[in-house]
Amino acid sequence: MRVLSGIQPTGRFHWGNYFGAIRQYIDLQDNEQAFYFIANYHALTTIDRPGAKRQGEIFDAAALRQLTNDAALDLLALGLKPEQATLFRQSDVPEVTELTWLLMTVTQMHLLEKCHAYKDKKDKGLAADAGLFTYPVLMAADILIYDSDLVPVGVDQVQHIEVTRDLAQRFNKIFGDVLTLPKEKLVESTARVPGLDGEKMSKSYGNTIEIFWPEKKVRKKIMSIKTDSTPVEEPKNPDNCLVFDLFKLFTTPGQQEELAARYRAGGMGYGDAKQALFEAAMSYFGPARQRREELEADPERVEAILQNGAAKARTKARSVLNRVRDVAGLPAIP
Ligand code: ADP
Ligand code: TRP
Repeated sequence: MRVLSGIQPTGRFHWGNYFGAIRQYIDLQDNEQAFYFIANYHALTTIDRPGAKRQGEIFDAAALRQLTNDAALDLLALGLKPEQATLFRQSDVPEVTELTWLLMTVTQMHLLEKCHAYKDKKDKGLAADAGLFTYPVLMAADILIYDSDLVPVGVDQVQHIEVTRDLAQRFNKIFGDVLTLPKEKLVESTARVPGLDGEKMSKSYGNTIEIFWPEKKVRKKIMSIKTDSTPVEEPKNPDNCLVFDLFKLFTTPGQQEELAARYRAGGMGYGDAKQALFEAAMSYFGPARQRREELEADPERVEAILQNGAAKARTKARSVLNRVRDVAGLPAIP
C-alpha cells in the first residue's frame, strides 16, 4: 500500500497545520510505504507573483527556495523519518509535468471549471491563469505517477482526489488499464485548531502561531489572546475559553483536569492560564525545535535526504510514465 501526500510551501507551518495534517501524515510512516513531497510547482500557482507582498514578505525565487527548504526542515524536525518515509521536492521529479500533459489530453473542461480553487477566484471576479485552472491535473499526476493507493488530505482537497479518480478512469478506458485508482484518507475531521482570534487558524487570516517561532514571539502572541474580563478571584469557565482549547492540544486529560479545576476554583487570572499554555506548547515542541536547530546546522545532510528521496521517487515515476507512454503511442525513455 503506497501512501502519498504533498504539502505546499506557501508559508511556515502553524499549530493548525500540525494537528490538522502533518501529525497524521507522519504517523502513517510507521505502517505504510509513504511518499511525501513539498509541492513547489503547485506553490507557483497560489503564491502572489514576484514583487507582490504577502504577510509583509516578497515572494520571489529566493523566497520559494527558502520556504521549500524550510518545509523540509520542519517535516524532518517534526518526526518524518527519511529511513521510513520518502521525502522529496515535487520539482525534483519533472516527469510529473509530462504526465500532467498526457492527462490533460483526456481532461474535460467542465471537470476543472467546477474545481474550487479556480471557481472561487473566478466567482470573486479575479483573473485566474491556466496554471491555477489546471492545478488539479498536476495534482492528479502527482498521485498517479507513483501508483499511490491512499492520499491523506484535508477536507478541502477531497474534490481533487475525485478528479484524480475521474481522470485515471477515463485514461484507463481510452488507453487500457495503466493507472492505479487512489482513495483519499480524510485527516482533518479530528481537529479544527482555532487561531488567536478564535476563528479557524489559517495563514490567510493572520491568526496563526507558527511551530518554530522564537520562544519570545510565541509567548507574546499567547499573551495577546483576548479573554473576557472576569476578575482574577472569580471562577472561570474552561469550556468557553480559547486559551484552554489550545492547552488541550498539548496535554493529557489529567493535566487538563488540573487546569480546569484551577479555572473553576477562582483565584487564577487568565495570565496564569496563558503561561500554562505557553509552557505546555514549548515542552510539546521542545524536541522538534532542538532537532530543527541541528538540521539547520547541517544543510548538506538535508539536501542529501531530499536528493535520496527524489532518486527513489523518480525511479518509480519513470516506470509509470513509460507504461503510460507506451499505451499512448510514445516511445519509452530508457
Ligand atoms: P492555511 O489555512 O493556513 O493556508 P493550508 O490550507 O495550507 O493552511 O493547510 C494545510 C493543511 O493543514 C490542510 O490540509 C489542513 O488540513 C490543515 N489545517 C490548516 N489549518 C488548520 C486548522 N486550523 N485546523 C486543522 N487543520 C488545519
Ligand atoms: N493541493 C494540495 C494542497 O494544497 C497539495 C498537493 C499537491 C497534494 N499535490 C498533491 C496533496 C498530491 C496530496 C496529493 O494542500
